[in-house]
Amino acid sequence: MSQIRIAVLVSGRGSNLQTLIDSIKENEINGKIEIVISSKEDAYALERAKKNDIESIYIGENNYPDEEKRTNKIIDILKEKEVELVVLAGYMSILDAKLVDNFRNRIINIHPSLIPSFCGKGFYGQRVHKAVLDYGAKLTGATVHFVDEGTDTGPIILQRAVDVDFEDTIETLSKKVLEIEHKLLPLAVKLYCEGRLEVVERKVKIKD
Ligand code: GRF
Repeated sequence: MSQIRIAVLVSGRGSNLQTLIDSIKENEINGKIEIVISSKEDAYALERAKKNDIESIYIGENNYPDEEKRTNKIIDILKEKEVELVVLAGYMSILDAKLVDNFRNRIINIHPSLIPSFCGKGFYGQRVHKAVLDYGAKLTGATVHFVDEGTDTGPIILQRAVDVDFEDTIETLSKKVLEIEHKLLPLAVKLYCEGRLEVVERKVKIKD
C-alpha cells in the first residue's frame, strides 16, 4: 500500500505536528507529510517543519486578507500536492465549507475535550480547560474526529478520558490532556492511513 499524502494545518507550537513527524519517522504511520500550512506567520510549528525538511507555508490574514482567496489558495495547494488526508493539529481558523466539501471525511481534527462536552464555537485552546474547571466536571479528555461543516460536530474517530482532580489548574489539566492528544492523534492518522476507518452515517467503524 502506498504512503498516504498528508497535509498538516497548524497555528501554534505544533506539539501534535511533532508527534506525527516522530511516528512517521518510526514507521508507525504509513504516510508522508507533504506540506505544513500555518494560519500564523510566527507559529513554532513552522520551525518544526523546517527542522524536519518538510515544506511549509504561511497562509493567513496578512498575505491573504480575503477569506475566499485564502480558502482557494489552501485548496489549490492541497490539490497540487495531491493530498489525501488533511490533519488539523491546533489549527485556530474555522475551515470554509468549500474546503470541507472538497475533502469530505478526509479532514481530521483534534479537540482537547470529550465531544460533545466543552466544544463548539468559542471553545478552543485554554478556554476549553477553563470551562471544564469552572463547571466542576470530574472527567475530560481528548477527541479526534472528522471535520464537517459544523464546529466540532463531525463523526468521532477516537476519544480518551482523563480525570479532573480538585487541585487541577488550567496548566495541569492542559498538560494531562495534551499527553492524551499525543497518543490519540498519531493513532487516528495511523488507522486512516491503513484504510481502517469507515464512516457509517455519523459513526466511525474501526475495521480490524
Ligand atoms: C491542542 O490542545 C489541540 O487539541 C488544540 O490546540 C492545541 C494545539 O497544540 N486544538 P499544539 O500546537 O499541537 O502543541
